[in-house]
Amino acid sequence: MRDTAPETYAEKLAQLEELRQNAVHNAGQTAVDKQHAKGKLTARERIEKLLDPGTFQELDTFVRHRTTDFEMQKTRPYGDAVVTGHGTIDGRRVAVFSQDFTVFGGSLGEVMAEKMCKVMDLAEKIGCPVIGINDSGGARIQEGVVSLGAYGDVFLRNVKSSGVIPQISLIMGPCAGGAVYSPAITDFIFMVKETSHMFITGPEVIKTVTGEEVGFEDLGGAMSHNSKSGVAHFASDDEDACLEDARYLLSFLPQNNMETPPRMVSGDDPNRMDEELDAVVPDNPNKPYDMRNVVRHVVDDGEFYEVHEHYAKNIVVGFARLDGFSVGIIGNQPAALAGVLDIDSSEKAARFIRTCDAFNIPFVTFCDVPGFLPGTTQEWGGIIRHGAKLLYAYAEATVPKITVITRKSYGGAYDVMGSKHLGADFNFAWPTAEVAVMGADGAVNIIYRKDISSSPTPDQRREALVNDYKAHFANPYIAAERGYIDDVIIPHETRPKLISALHTLETKRQQGPRRKHGNIPL
Ligand code: HXC
Repeated sequence: MRDTAPETYAEKLAQLEELRQNAVHNAGQTAVDKQHAKGKLTARERIEKLLDPGTFQELDTFVRHRTTDFEMQKTRPYGDAVVTGHGTIDGRRVAVFSQDFTVFGGSLGEVMAEKMCKVMDLAEKIGCPVIGINDSGGARIQEGVVSLGAYGDVFLRNVKSSGVIPQISLIMGPCAGGAVYSPAITDFIFMVKETSHMFITGPEVIKTVTGEEVGFEDLGGAMSHNSKSGVAHFASDDEDACLEDARYLLSFLPQNNMETPPRMVSGDDPNRMDEELDAVVPDNPNKPYDMRNVVRHVVDDGEFYEVHEHYAKNIVVGFARLDGFSVGIIGNQPAALAGVLDIDSSEKAARFIRTCDAFNIPFVTFCDVPGFLPGTTQEWGGIIRHGAKLLYAYAEATVPKITVITRKSYGGAYDVMGSKHLGADFNFAWPTAEVAVMGADGAVNIIYRKDISSSPTPDQRREALVNDYKAHFANPYIAAERGYIDDVIIPHETRPKLISALHTLETKRQQGPRRKHGNIPL
C-alpha cells in the first residue's frame, strides 16, 4: 500500500488496480511455482477453467484477516486464502469458492469462512448450485477456536442447503481434519488422482496413535476414497479432467429443488428399437452380463455417466438421458458378485435415489438381483439396517419411478428394487424375468426335502421338481397376472416404452402426510 493518500481520480484508479493485483498475486510467484510443480493449478486458474470464459464475478477481493496473532499481523494478504464469487457454466449461474493453498496453506480461519458462507448464502437465496474447490491444510492453527467455529458456520450452511441446491465438492489438494466434513455433506465429491487427499488424521498422527504405517495416497487418495470408503463419487486423472467432469455433472442437475433439470435436444430417435437388447440376457441364468451394456443400448446416444463407478460394483448408478430428459439409473450388476445386494451397494443406491428425488430427477431401475448376500459379515455389519435404507429411499421417493426386470427378481430384493409395492409408477419385465421368492434349486430343496429323500432316484426327482418349479414360478407372468408388473415387453422395445412412460409421468403429483422429516435408519 502507498503511504500517501491518492487525491486525483487517476491516482484512486491506480490504487484500485494495485490492490487488485495484490489480491491476485497475494502469495508471490514462488508459491505459485510450487503449486504448479505439484501438478496443481492455482485457485484462480481453477475457477477460470471451471466457468464459462469471462463470466467470473469475484466478491470480497479486499477481505483480510483480523487475527491479532503477532506473526499473522505481519502478513495480511488481500482476499485471504479463498477466492469466491459466481459465474456461469453452460450459461447457467453457479456460485463458487476456491481455496488458495498458496496463502497460509489454504487453512480456514474466520474471514475465509465468512467469504465462503457469503457465496453459499447467495447460492441458496438465488437458487443456484454451489461448487467448492478444496485445497486446504484444515483449521488455521493460529486462529484457534475461532477457526473451529468458522467450520461450524460452513457445516450449518451445507446442511441447510442440502436438498435445496446442488452442492458439489472438488478435492484438489489436501483436505484434512474437520475440513472433510463440509464436502462430506455435499451431494457429490470429485477427487484428483495423486494430488488430492482426504483424511481426518494424517499418516504421522496415525503412526503415533496406533503404530500403523500408511502413506497419504493409500490413506486418503482418490482411489482409496472412490473404491474403498465410498466417500468420493468420482476420480479424475488430472485437474483439467476434474473441472470438465464437474461441468458435465451439472448438465444433469437442476438449479435448485424447485426446478427440473434442463432438457437437452437429442438426435437419438425416441422410438428406436435396439435388437441387440434381445440377446443380452444369457440363456444360462447363472451366466453374468454387464448391466451397463443394457443401459447404454437404451439411453440417448449410449451415454451413461456413472456415479460411484469404483465402489460397490455389484450395483451401478448414474445419470443418462431419455428423449433429452435427465434420468437417474440404478441397475443391479450381474457381472459383479452376481448383482447381489449387500451393505455397500444398498447404501450406494439409497444415497443416489435420494439425490435424484431431492432434485426432481426421475429414475429407472434395471433389476437382476438374486437376493441379499448371506453371512455373518453382512449380518453383523448391519445389512438389516443398511438394506432398509435402500427400501426406505425407494418408498420415500416421489419422482417418477420406472422399473424394468431383466432377469432375476428374488425374495426381499424383489420388493426393494423398485417394486410396484414401494410405489413405482410403471413396472415392466422382459420375458426372461424370474420373479419368485427364491431360485428353483433353493426352493425345491426346502419345500420338497422329504419328497426327494424318500425317492428311490433322488437326483432325478430333484431335477423334475426343479423343472416343474421353473415352469410355474421362474417367469414374469404370475406377477403380471396380479398387476405387479404392468407389461411384459420385448427387450428391444425398452427405450420407447421408457420414454413413453416418462412423458406420461411428466405431470405426476404426489404428496405425503405432513411431518417434520422421516427417520431413515442411518
Ligand atoms: C495454518 C497451515 C496449516 C494449518 C498448513 N499450513 N496447514 N497454516 N494452519 N492448518 C501452512 C504451513 O505452515 C506452510 O506455511 C504452508 O501452509 C504450506 O504447508 P506445507 O506443510 O509446507 O505444505 P505441504 O508439505 O504440501 O503439506 C500440506 C499439508 C500439511 C499436508 C496440508 O501442511 C499439513 O499436514 N498441515 C496440517 C494438516 C492438519 O492436520 N490439519 C488439521 C487441522 S485441525 P509456510 O509459511 O511455511 O509456507 C482441523 C480440525 C477442524 O482441521 C475441526 C472442525 C470441525
